[in-house]
Amino acid sequence: MLFSSLLLGAAAVTSVRAQQSSSFPAGVIATGTQGVTNPPVPTAPTTINQTSMARLLSLNSIDDFCIFAPPYQANISDTEQIEVAWCTQPRNNARVIPDGTITGLSFLKTDFYVQILGYGDFTKLNIVDGDEGGELDPHGATGSGNPIGGNVTTNIVDGLDEPIAEWMLYVDYNQFCIRACTNANSTYSAAFMCWHELDEMGCEFVMPGNYDFNGTFETCEADVAYPPGWYPTATVDGTTSFSTFAQFFTGVYTGGDGSTTSYTVGTTVTPSTAFTTPSSSACSSTSTISNGIALASLISGVSGSAPPVTGSGGSATGGAATGSSPTGSGAQSTGSGSSAALRGAHVGSGGGGYATIVIVSLVSGLTAIAMLH
Ligand SMILES: *[C@@H]1O[C@H](CO)[C@@H](O)[C@H](O)[C@H]1NC(C)=O
Ligand SMILES: *[C@@H]1O[C@H](CO)[C@@H](O)[C@H](O)[C@H]1NC(C)=O
Ligand SMILES: *[C@@H]1O[C@H](CO)[C@@H](O)[C@H](O)[C@H]1NC(C)=O
Ligand SMILES: *[C@@H]1O[C@H](CO)[C@@H](O)[C@H](O)[C@H]1NC(C)=O
Ligand SMILES: *[C@@H]1O[C@H](CO)[C@@H](O)[C@H](O)[C@H]1NC(C)=O
Repeated sequence: MLFSSLLLGAAAVTSVRAQQSSSFPAGVIATGTQGVTNPPVPTAPTTINQTSMARLLSLNSIDDFCIFAPPYQANISDTEQIEVAWCTQPRNNARVIPDGTITGLSFLKTDFYVQILGYGDFTKLNIVDGDEGGELDPHGATGSGNPIGGNVTTNIVDGLDEPIAEWMLYVDYNQFCIRACTNANSTYSAAFMCWHELDEMGCEFVMPGNYDFNGTFETCEADVAYPPGWYPTATVDGTTSFSTFAQFFTGVYTGGDGSTTSYTVGTTVTPSTAFTTPSSSACSSTSTISNGIALASLISGVSGSAPPVTGSGGSATGGAATGSSPTGSGAQSTGSGSSAALRGAHVGSGGGGYATIVIVSLVSGLTAIAMLH
């Protein structure tokens, strides 16, 4: 067992990281292969394909990032293994998030992670209205990630697309938060800083930050938070000790002989907030983000449009910040993989019908241009 995983690791290192130049602490850079539905490396621009099953997220900037959402209309908890990448730009062969979907963002760069918090109407990304969502990470029930073959890169550390080993995404119908862990030291491993076993705690607890941003799109630097669930207890001779919170969880284990045993993990007293909210600085903000792609080319099922020249900016007005609902409850179970996968495969068949709509809208666009001249 150990021997075979060592071999796998060695093979993967040579195949994946052609362009690495910086050195990273152990556990930060992903050393495995890409998910089978992903391009070999992050790529932009790519052809629009709203039936894509690609699962490669890039987290680069306030207007160049991706999140996972269902391939067809569904609850997150029913589709964790088959979520697909949705990106603000046409990249990574992934689906494109239509302009107007996201209503506010906070993009934070810290010494240990990149973190993006967002509000929006994620029913436009196939999440059922009112769905309380779930937590996605590269571990999952099979160890191949939720979704299976889901991968994450960021270029914020050194300008190169670095494959990141540890990340976590909470997403529901109107909020998401994602963190990719880009650093580690002997106190904080990447695995602890992107701890993936607090799926019922919600964004504000797991990824503390400013949540009062709906209506604005801000990019900030920020101090490093304590790892999720860590509470400092004492500092002696410059060394801090911590207590950690483990989410309460009960389950039933079925033994090889068919007998069942109940078990309990975690603490029954659930803390209500993280120990601190790290302060942020050097913020800049815009009133919106935009890829400038006509919404008609981003209808569910459309594929094959050439990627347009990407634009940015726009003139949406900032709305008042409002309260937020915590994301992520009830997602410990992974739904049924095989039937979900079958339903997922069915989705692409609508493509032909939608192609006609695109052509019609392109033609009327041309007519409009002709009339203006
Ligand atoms: C892709 O995701 C899989 C599953 O989590 C992981 O084993 C692998 O290391 C990742 N590869 C890259 C290049 O990120
Ligand atoms: C769109 O994605 C689907 C699923 O990954 C793939 O089968 C199809 O070939 C892609 N279409 C185009 C035009 O790339
Ligand atoms: C989504 O989850 C809710 C709450 O668990 C459930 O009532 C609803 O039927 C689910 N919808 C779909 C489409 O699965
Ligand atoms: C690791 O980094 C954190 C955050 O910057 C810092 O508080 C801690 O002291 C560092 N640990 C070591 C051993 O340097
Ligand atoms: C964010 O703002 C939009 C637009 O004002 C609003 O529709 C939405 O409900 C807000 N979301 C949250 C979580 O408050």
